[in-house]
Amino acid sequence: MSSHTADLVVFGGTGDLSMRKLLPALYHSDRDGRLSPETRVIAMSRGGLTDADFRGKVDAEVRDRVPIDDPAVWQRFLGRLFHVSVDVGGDDRSGWAALARLLAGHEQRDRVFYLASPPMTFGPFCRELHQTGLVTPRSRVVLEKPLGRDLPSAQRINDEVGAIFDERQIFRIDHYLGKETVQNLLVLRFANAFLEPIWNSLWIDHVQITVAETVGTPGRRGYYDQAGALRDMVQNHLLQLLTLTAMEPPARNDREAIRDEKVKVLQALRPIQEASEVDRFTVRGQYVGAGDLVGYLDEPASTAPTEASSRVETFTAIRAEIKNWRWAGVPFYLRTGKRMPHRVSEIVVQFKDVPHSIYPGGSPNRLVLRLQPEEGIRLHIMAKEPGAGETTLKPVPLSLSFGETFTARVPEAYERLLSDVLAGNPTLFMRRDEVEAAWRWIDPILAAWESSPETPEPYPAGTSGPAGSHELLGRSGRAWHEEA
Ligand code: BG6
Repeated sequence: MSSHTADLVVFGGTGDLSMRKLLPALYHSDRDGRLSPETRVIAMSRGGLTDADFRGKVDAEVRDRVPIDDPAVWQRFLGRLFHVSVDVGGDDRSGWAALARLLAGHEQRDRVFYLASPPMTFGPFCRELHQTGLVTPRSRVVLEKPLGRDLPSAQRINDEVGAIFDERQIFRIDHYLGKETVQNLLVLRFANAFLEPIWNSLWIDHVQITVAETVGTPGRRGYYDQAGALRDMVQNHLLQLLTLTAMEPPARNDREAIRDEKVKVLQALRPIQEASEVDRFTVRGQYVGAGDLVGYLDEPASTAPTEASSRVETFTAIRAEIKNWRWAGVPFYLRTGKRMPHRVSEIVVQFKDVPHSIYPGGSPNRLVLRLQPEEGIRLHIMAKEPGAGETTLKPVPLSLSFGETFTARVPEAYERLLSDVLAGNPTLFMRRDEVEAAWRWIDPILAAWESSPETPEPYPAGTSGPAGSHELLGRSGRAWHEEA
């Protein structure tokens, strides 16, 4: 079923995110018949392009990224695209007037302003849209991450955007929430009876959340020097995974009930704020050259200036605790890094040992939720090895591979999220209080790192992070789950 007719105005419309993610996602929606015939996509950029130039650019750069089984559908998609040049922060107001002309007469449509531009532009763009009279009651605004670089800057942005748009009109994206397997986590927990009774500190020893990437940061150092793994990945993606793993069952599958439960988890995170606690419970690393792989400091610079001796972390591991009845005493280990040996995102729930063992050689159960690649769920159980002699135990996996079980195409995260924006459903988007609660927990760690004379621990590119990361778990006799 196609959605309402919409005008989707994308700021940063010719940028990397738009070309790599948004336009392919919109094309898929069009191909699947989920865009109404009159829906338009209007890219805003400094580019000085005409509509024809922009369509040519998309034809050249996006065509190869998507399956084109019917050229007429591709032409129909190109026909939806428009371009408006805007003088960002300058005196030339002709771009805003051109946008107003393009939108005039279509006030009854849904109007979505997608800000895929740096966060400092969010407030000014919203003000311009308001002053140009473009914000209608049917308007929504989508904010890309990062939402600020700490709590005060996030609050400022939220205030500025909130002065123009109501909270119900604001969609803050975390693309991890659009991933199929992340949504499946909620279904696994709340549509099955067997897990919930044991999903607590009585049965669970600890949880590990890993998002490891093999890529480095070539061409992104200008951004990355200012961000680092904590801001780029933990404040948003990893904490979102943590909230979905730890939240209480919501009363309903609706926008507020789910987000209410998620925010309670963030509010229950035990602060890590004293320097000694930050030292003990957090690890940061930076990759150095190894083999053919260059180190972070030698990555090719991007257009933005880079810091020759940047102390930014390309890896971090944290031992988090949730102070509530369900999770008291259960550590949640978070880990993310660039230039790791394998690309893998997973949540590992490590159960406790059986209360009383009658067999030698058993090991505790472990549930592994693999988010990417090869999405699936694997429960490691103990079984008896066949044989007539003594009983010998062997851990064996019960496996569900989504790829083998479901044949339908798995949509990209942005496809689902854009459909939700067009349908006006904010459940998978972050509410203001969620984003701010996440920063409130992150800020003291950032502050302690910044004031510490220490530099991140080096780790060779292509390895699983610095020694400190292994010690973080090793101190309590635990180890990271490393299954390629
Ligand atoms: C982005 C980060 O939000 O997520 C990137 O800015 C990171 O640094 C990316 O590479 C990872 O996303 P995915 O979907 O490839 O796991």
